[in-house]
Amino acid sequence: MIIEVTNLVKKYKEHTAVDGLDLCIHEGEIFGLLGPNGAGKSTTMNALLGLLKMNGGTVKMFGKDYSKHAREIKRYVGYVPQEIAFFETLNAIDNVTYWGRLYRLRGDELDKAVQEALEFTGLWDRRKDRASTFSGGMKRRLNIACAIVHKPRILFMDEPTVGVDPQSRNSILESIKTMNQNGTTVIYTTHYMEEIEAICGRVAIMDFGKIIALGTIDELIDSISEENRINMGFVANTERAVTLIEKAQGVIACNNNEGMLRIRMEKDEMYLTALLENLIQNGFKIKSMTLEKSNLETVFLQLTGKKLRD
Ligand SMILES: Nc1ncnc2c1ncn2[C@@H]1O[C@H](COP(=O)(O)OP(=O)(O)O)[C@@H](O)[C@H]1O
Ligand SMILES: [Mg+2]
Repeated sequence: MIIEVTNLVKKYKEHTAVDGLDLCIHEGEIFGLLGPNGAGKSTTMNALLGLLKMNGGTVKMFGKDYSKHAREIKRYVGYVPQEIAFFETLNAIDNVTYWGRLYRLRGDELDKAVQEALEFTGLWDRRKDRASTFSGGMKRRLNIACAIVHKPRILFMDEPTVGVDPQSRNSILESIKTMNQNGTTVIYTTHYMEEIEAICGRVAIMDFGKIIALGTIDELIDSISEENRINMGFVANTERAVTLIEKAQGVIACNNNEGMLRIRMEKDEMYLTALLENLIQNGFKIKSMTLEKSNLETVFLQLTGKKLRD
C-alpha cells in the first residue's frame, strides 16, 4: 500500500468538506477520484499533501506517517494543482528549472531532468518562449512538466485537463499512461467520467465529502445494474409487441417511445432469450435492437439521484 488514509476530516468553519474519508492506494495504479464540483476532491488532495491542515485523520505514504516524515516523503511526490501555477513572465525552461531546484536537483542532473520533462510534455521546441504566450493546453502541460521534473513515485493530478483542447487532453491522458507504465503511481481527480474510463483502474466516487462507491469500473457498474435495458424496433405491429413483451417473464417495464420500445428487464440471459424466441415464434419481425450499456454516469445517477455535471 503506497498511500493509506484513515478517517480524514477537513472542515471550513462549520462546513465539512471532507467527511471521514478512508482510502488505500496500491503502488503502480492510476486511481481516479470522481465527483461533481464541490464534492471535496481538491480538499482531499490538498489535505493528503499537507497543504491544508486537517481536522482529523492520518495519512501514511510509503508506510510512513506523513505528518512526521513530510520532508522526506515530499521528495518522491509530485502535484499538479487544479489552478495553473507558474511564472508567466519566465520561459518554459526557466519555470521547470525553478521547480527542479526546489527538489534539490543541480548541474547536469538538473539540465537533463528539465529537458526530459519538457520533451515528455511536448514543450521542448517552445522551451525559450514565455509561459504567458502559451495556449491553455500548453500551460497545462507546462504545469505537468514542473510537477514531474524530479521523477516522483507518486503523482497527484487535480483536474489537469480542464480548459484544454481535445488534442492536448488526449496527449495529457496518453502521457499519464506512459508515466504509469514507467512505474509512477497516479491519483487523478476529475468530474469527467470519460477520462476515468480511459485511464483509471480503480475509482472512488465522491459526493458531499464522502466516498460513496469504490472499486474497478466494472465492479461499480455491476454493483448497480440489476437490470438490462434493451431498445427494440419492429417492422410492424409494434403495439401488439408491447402487449406480448409486458407479459413476458422478467420484464419490469416496456415503454413505446415513438415506435422504439424501451424494455427494462431483470438481468438474466434466460429472460432475454425466452423473450426473443417468443417474439419470433409469434411472427414479429425485429428491425433493430440495442442493449443500453451502463457507465459511471449511470452509477453516479443511481447512487445520488443527480448527474455528475449539471
Ligand atoms: N477555502 C475554502 N473556504 C471555504 N470553503 C471551501 C474552501 N475551499 C473549498 N471549500 C468548500 O469545500 C467543498 C469542497 O470543495 P473542493 O474540495 O474544492 O471540491 P472539488 O474539488 O470536488 O470541486 C465545497 O463545498 C467548497 O465550496
Ligand atoms: Mg477541485
